Amino acid sequence: MSELEALCQEIRQCRKCRLALGRTLAVPGEGPEDAEIMFIGEAPGFHEDQQGRPFVGAAGQFLEKLLASINLSRQDVYITNVVKCRPPGNRDPQPEEIAACRPYLERQIEIIKPKLIVTLGRFSMQLAFSGVSISRVHGTPKKIGDIVYFPMFHPAAALHQPRFRSMIEQDMLKIPQILAELQSIEAEEPDEPPPQQLSLF
Ligand code: URA
Ligand code: SF4
Repeated sequence: MSELEALCQEIRQCRKCRLALGRTLAVPGEGPEDAEIMFIGEAPGFHEDQQGRPFVGAAGQFLEKLLASINLSRQDVYITNVVKCRPPGNRDPQPEEIAACRPYLERQIEIIKPKLIVTLGRFSMQLAFSGVSISRVHGTPKKIGDIVYFPMFHPAAALHQPRFRSMIEQDMLKIPQILAELQSIEAEEPDEPPPQQLSLF
């Protein structure tokens, strides 16, 4: 069993916070172990809790459409959430629950080593941006260490609100350019790299 599979098994059995009490299935996440891009949502909803898979309901269908707009499918990326178990009635995850679950997300990031982390909604945005509003920073990449974080609105919020919908669609279309820029930086690395200013981040 791979390290990531072992971690997912551990998550499926976890009882470290009260969300374990109300869940049907924990939802560790899914996608290739060497994914370059990781999408991080908020928490499983009804369908995710039933199936044990992330983003399989209406928000997930919209996410798949957004991925298709940049020629990606869900098999190309790793998809997970800030908390791995469904909050009762889809309420917001509470700070203690987020804190209890946080080490799992950190270990997933350590194992997968994504180049780009796309945060969906305001909870996962806290990984890289705190004290700012999502309306202000969505669509703005930020490099921290080896990882570029790219905050987007949550697809569930965008699904029924035309204003958010076009913003999330526009933000998604920026991803290929960010990836291309990351790849061009990598291609230059074997040589003695000149001190370089990143234009995007
Ligand atoms: N919304 C999320 O944030 N995550 C899911 O997995 C599904 C819906
Ligand atoms: Fe464990 Fe996270 Fe589920 Fe809480 S939400 S029980 S910490 S896996």
